[in-house]
Amino acid sequence: MSKPDQPSRRSFLKSAAVASAAPAVATTKLSQNVYALNRDQEPARPAGPNDRIRIATIGMGIIGFIDTDTALKVPGVELVAVSDLYEGRRVHAKEVYGDKVETFLDYREILARKDVDAVLVCVPDHWHAQISIDAMKAGKAVYCEKPMVRIVDEGPQVIDVQKQTGAVFQVGSQYASSLLYDKVKDLIKKGAIGEINTVEARYNRNSDTGAWQYSIPTDASPETVDWDRFLGTAPKLPFDPVRFFRWRNYWDYGTAVAGDLFVHLLTGIHHATGSLGPNRIAGMGGLRYWKDGRDVYDVIMGLLDYPQTDVHPGFTLSLQTNFADGGGGDTYFRFVGSEGVINVSFTSLTVSGPGIQTATADQVLKGYNSVRTFSNAQQKAFAEKFLAEEAAKGKPKPRASTPEKFVVPNGYDERFDHFVNFFNSVRDKKPVYEDAVFGYRAAAPALLCNDSYRQGRVIGWDPANLKVTS
Ligand SMILES: NC(=O)c1ccc[n+]([C@@H]2O[C@H](COP(=O)([O-])OP(=O)(O)OC[C@H]3O[C@@H](n4cnc5c(N)ncnc54)[C@H](O)[C@@H]3O)[C@@H](O)[C@H]2O)c1
Repeated sequence: MSKPDQPSRRSFLKSAAVASAAPAVATTKLSQNVYALNRDQEPARPAGPNDRIRIATIGMGIIGFIDTDTALKVPGVELVAVSDLYEGRRVHAKEVYGDKVETFLDYREILARKDVDAVLVCVPDHWHAQISIDAMKAGKAVYCEKPMVRIVDEGPQVIDVQKQTGAVFQVGSQYASSLLYDKVKDLIKKGAIGEINTVEARYNRNSDTGAWQYSIPTDASPETVDWDRFLGTAPKLPFDPVRFFRWRNYWDYGTAVAGDLFVHLLTGIHHATGSLGPNRIAGMGGLRYWKDGRDVYDVIMGLLDYPQTDVHPGFTLSLQTNFADGGGGDTYFRFVGSEGVINVSFTSLTVSGPGIQTATADQVLKGYNSVRTFSNAQQKAFAEKFLAEEAAKGKPKPRASTPEKFVVPNGYDERFDHFVNFFNSVRDKKPVYEDAVFGYRAAAPALLCNDSYRQGRVIGWDPANLKVTS
């Protein structure tokens, strides 16, 4: 399929900002039934040199560099320090951001600095809660990468410290600020697909790096890596570069696929539907292909039931990640309602659907239906009654079912929008949209998929009161 013309990056940047809680989405017609999505606000600009936000990044691995680069694109943001446990990454931070950026092994030295306003927490999952809590207590604003916590029990601690300190705290799951999911939200709200009844979301991969076999540097050793600090409260083990550089593959540090990827899917779904979360959660899967020493699974499916609330009808969610999808990997969302479906990819969404059909008279009387099995006399009697009733009802209204497609601008990056939201909150001391409670409501069901998989049972969750119920 050919790609429609898309607006330029420049026009996107011009209108790239977004208000935290009520994102404004504009659309521009590109061609018949194809529209471009856009923001209609400018990013907040610094008032002057004293209005700069000074950040430090804790954890300069893959996402540490990506998040820092993205944060620095927001006007008025400056990097002053980084912390990392591998020497090569501290060296590379200076190579990329210059010698004036100070580097530290111990993140607490960053928290002690007066010239740091906000920290980006980009460390492995087993450090998220501790570093976020320490940072909020030290008076810093915190952008904590997803999932907010590694285990369900840590969530209330982070929420409590955020409340006590009043810190600006945002979880780094960028679908919460995405133009696409803002549009899905609009469409669902205005009834474009009728009553939502199921959501399917899939995030499949078919590569070694996609399955977390990240490269290990040739100089990895106890001299270049602070192994004990990495372990933190995890079980003590001798130095193992595979565990350090591929920590996602081990339950001691990561949250497996559900914590890594389902949490993105749940963030998009909760944002689009306004839901607080499911009340029944089941996870099933296994280690099917990547038998490289990892102790986590590589295939998982989650089934989550969302009870009816004031903002949405009851719906059932199926989630899937397969790291050995020989079909080529695939990522999509399908929001299914009684009137249609919204299909979402990384860069576009399509809303379509004929809705629920009523069979034509021909289909009822002669098609795949029970009438054909009745006696001839009964078929005649049935047809007379049926046709008389149909005539009394009048002609059914034709349904408009031409699919409509909405595309994001070329180069659109929801991570940038997410940082704009974060820094707007830091500047204005306004609540963030993806706060600790939202972050926990996305993380907990993902982590409970893991618990369900490991315990072999369906788990009950109370999304309003944030409690495991069974
Ligand atoms: N939002 C997203 O799209 C997205 C994408 C990728 C990763 N992430 C999240 O970001 C986090 C990091 O993932 P990654 O892929 O960058 O991992 P990574 O292994 O590439 O980097 C982690 C870095 O943290 C450092 N580190 C570990 N413990 C530390 C500590 N106590 N103090 C300071 N530094 C420490 C390590 O030395 C390492 O360089 C994960 O929680 C992951 O889920 C989010």
